[in-house]
Amino acid sequence: MPAIVLVGAQWGDEGKGKATDLLGGDVDYVVRYQGGNNAGHTVVIGDKSYALHLLPSGVLSPEVVPVIGNGVVIDPAVLLQEIDGLRDRGVSCERLLISANAHLIMPHHRALDKVTERYLGKARIGTTGRGIGPTYADKINRMGIRVQDLFDPNILTQKLDLALREKNQVLTKVYNRRRIDTGPIVQEYLAYGERLKPFVADTTLILNKALDDGKVILLEGAQGTLLDLDHGTYPFVTSSSPTAGGACAGSGIGPTKINRVIGIIKAYTTRVGSGPFPTELLDEQGEYLRTTGGEYGVTTGRDRRCGWFDAVIARYATRVNGVTDYFLTKLDVLSGLERIPVCVAYEVDGARVDELPTTQTEFHHAKPILEYLDGWREDITGAKKFEDLPENAQAYVRALEEMSGCRISAIGVGPGRDQTLSLRPLV
Ligand code: GDP
Ligand code: IMO
Ligand code: MG
Repeated sequence: MPAIVLVGAQWGDEGKGKATDLLGGDVDYVVRYQGGNNAGHTVVIGDKSYALHLLPSGVLSPEVVPVIGNGVVIDPAVLLQEIDGLRDRGVSCERLLISANAHLIMPHHRALDKVTERYLGKARIGTTGRGIGPTYADKINRMGIRVQDLFDPNILTQKLDLALREKNQVLTKVYNRRRIDTGPIVQEYLAYGERLKPFVADTTLILNKALDDGKVILLEGAQGTLLDLDHGTYPFVTSSSPTAGGACAGSGIGPTKINRVIGIIKAYTTRVGSGPFPTELLDEQGEYLRTTGGEYGVTTGRDRRCGWFDAVIARYATRVNGVTDYFLTKLDVLSGLERIPVCVAYEVDGARVDELPTTQTEFHHAKPILEYLDGWREDITGAKKFEDLPENAQAYVRALEEMSGCRISAIGVGPGRDQTLSLRPLV
């Protein structure tokens, strides 16, 4: 049976949490394969709202086994807090599985994330400050500390000692920060290990056996295509591979097992943090989208930058992820606009460009070429099927489908589970 990848098509916050939760009823496992608690995935069930950072959004479906894959970076204090928080609200995390190979975010990673951003000044990336970049950097440098190290006090001490030997030099001599001592951190992390131990498993083996047994696995991406370390707007990206290809490396499932890639795409565009954003609106129209769409960060509370739908980016996301179906979200936010601008191409240094520019400099120069689609006045939050949508809303969806080069198979008309129009099954 198949594995399905769910991936953000823009700069994150497309509504991946809602979409994952919705599919929870049809799948057996939901796996996070990259990122960490930089993510903020919102799930609204009835009158309750859940903000998930490290736990897969499938945790809210009682039948689903939630899995934190090897590609994720885990801040254990945050994870335990999230588990406790859900337990207090009556949600059990007992089924959770955590890869023994996942890397750990350590105090020096958080310290370095914050201080390097400060030193970058105007050139800062606008990270979430959660230590994501420094943790992945240490992983690549082969000096990371993994979940399995929590179960061997000697190894944990040795590895942390080695890491801090270098990091303390950098923290104290380059950045004028306080040094971090190994002892207390080892004690703190061993205690986390005690609590996390029951969840830790060989997740790759379990997932592959599950596939052999005919189970359905959903791989839940965090962040989005344009934040991908390779395919995003480097250096204004996150330090992992949210794109569909990353799902294989981050879970240990082979590419031949994946038969569907669902792109989550907002009916307009948002971005948090620095970096180029061609359709960004710095005027009252941007403010309108922000307030109407509730575009404030789930993790950091920052205002999200807002702009019109960008079809160049959508085509790019279709291509680099091999998207088979789009889940279009937040269509309801556009209700009431007379005309809706959509970016169909860019103008770069006087020339029309139909695809993502090759260089970062060109992308920074890209100005949107807009086309205007007719809007609709009706409230669509109660729509149940595609045909319930006003004619112009239907036409807007069809136009986006045409421009992005991939069919739209579901449409969000509100944050609730039942505020989704299904055009065809996604599982
Ligand atoms: P994620 O990071 O991709 O999971 O997205 P976030 O949770 O950060 O942000 C998406 C926000 O939009 C959340 O507040 C969701 O509850 C909300 N949302 C998701 N789909 C829809 C939709 O179709 N309409 C509206 N109005 N809100 C939605
Ligand atoms: P979800 O999963 C939106 C952005 C940060 C910053 C850049 C690098 O909720 O869609 P990092 O802390 O990862 O090193 O920051 O990436 N960013 C996100 N933006 N949604 C997210 O997650 C994000 N996770 C990271 O704002 O620009
Ligand atoms: Mg989010």
